[in-house]
Amino acid sequence: MNIFDELVIPASPNHIMLLKYMLIISLLLFIPYICMMLGATFISTYYNKKGKKEGNKLYLRFAKDVVEKLTITKSAELALGTIPVLSAFFAYAQLLYTSKTISISIMALAVVLFITAFVFIYRYRSTFKIEGILNTLKGFADKDSADKQGEENVQQIVEFEESVIATKTLSGTIGKYLLLTASYIFAGTMALASSPDKWGSVNNILQIIFSWQSIFSFSALLSLAGMVSGSAIIFYFFSWNGGLKDMDDEYSAFVKNVAGRIAMLSGILFPLMLLISYVYLPAVSQSPSVFYYMVIVLVISLVAGNYIYSMVKNSDTSSATALFVLIFVLMMFNIIKDQMAFGNAIHENTIEINKIAEEHEKEVKNKTMQTTGVDAEAIFKQKCSACHKFDVKVVGPPYDQAVPKYNGDVQKLSEYIFNPQKIDAAYPPMPNQGLKKKEANAMAKWLIDKVGKK
Ligand code: HEC
Repeated sequence: MNIFDELVIPASPNHIMLLKYMLIISLLLFIPYICMMLGATFISTYYNKKGKKEGNKLYLRFAKDVVEKLTITKSAELALGTIPVLSAFFAYAQLLYTSKTISISIMALAVVLFITAFVFIYRYRSTFKIEGILNTLKGFADKDSADKQGEENVQQIVEFEESVIATKTLSGTIGKYLLLTASYIFAGTMALASSPDKWGSVNNILQIIFSWQSIFSFSALLSLAGMVSGSAIIFYFFSWNGGLKDMDDEYSAFVKNVAGRIAMLSGILFPLMLLISYVYLPAVSQSPSVFYYMVIVLVISLVAGNYIYSMVKNSDTSSATALFVLIFVLMMFNIIKDQMAFGNAIHENTIEINKIAEEHEKEVKNKTMQTTGVDAEAIFKQKCSACHKFDVKVVGPPYDQAVPKYNGDVQKLSEYIFNPQKIDAAYPPMPNQGLKKKEANAMAKWLIDKVGKK
């Protein structure tokens, strides 16, 4: 049922180890980023709307500052969003090879939605800049509005501004809901990937959407997003590079209050969600280390909660950096915990993949053995590998370069190997290796097979 099975090569044990690390690293970049993006869009669009409606300058400024700070920079999208989510996806695809779960196909959908959402959100972000520039322009045009030309200019700017605002509202809304949907599906498929008992029975996207497991997994992500965004706002506004410039008392009290409340509320929800999703973890995915990591995450979240509480209570942001770092440590342990559970879940599947990988290796070797009765790989190791590698020059040229010249002509290559002639002035001549005709033939066939497969 899995279309990606066709595209994926079965991985050997070392390779699987590597994939697991790759997955953890990708998620370490991606999950915090998504949390900040969720916070940025939801908080910003909310205050943008409210600010417009009530004509409140404070809200409007907050909407702008939040999205600008929390989405970092335009290039963060590639480095922290698109690339990590793609590599996490490919790691999942390889690790779930042969698992007969639809997780991967549905996850592909989430990846596409994420990437589209990023485009809209960064467009939303850039409209704030354009609006700022337009306001300055209006100021200039207003000054000499005594003449008719000035009035016309202002009129034009106002018209353009209206279209910018329309774009802003639209891209903000689309970006927000795309991101929400993508995160929901992503959280749901990650939860499904860790539940092998459900792989057989869950076979359409609706079953993923309407499952308690997805709901809890998503709620855990949302509460994490609240904690990250709340503490990120406090960090960026009050601590990073000395904090935001030109904040008056009213604005800074407002920011502290909003960010503090978001962080506090989600700081209460997160430990609950953590416990619930642990209870929902199937027995095969549980293990003592998953439990210990869960406890560590729980403890860190309580410590963080304490920080947040005293920060809100005393309106004191001096520990903003410490809190922000703590939240990242929490996220790191949480991701490792989830990936351990996932590792347990796919344990059987990994054994299966390793078997297939071994067979795959043997197949290449046997094919030449069966047709020629000669073990070409053994000859290569004994007689050729001192001077040749496939990918780099040793004494002789790399096979990846030399062999394609023969265009699959086994006969011609076999003649060369049987009796090498001087070919390339850049190399010394190759000494005759004294192979039998049959062996040279097998070598030629094996080389062409192997190089052709790369
Ligand atoms: C002592 C080092 C040495 C050993 C051992 C050796 N080769 Fe070479 N091989 C060379 C050198 C040097 C060249 C480049 C010769 C030239 O360009 O004239 C070469 C070239 C080749 C080429 C490329 C020919 C071309 O058309 O450019 C092939 C194929 C090849 N070797 C296969 C083999 C095989 C198969 C074995 C083992 C049975 C082997 N070699 C063992 C040194 C070696």
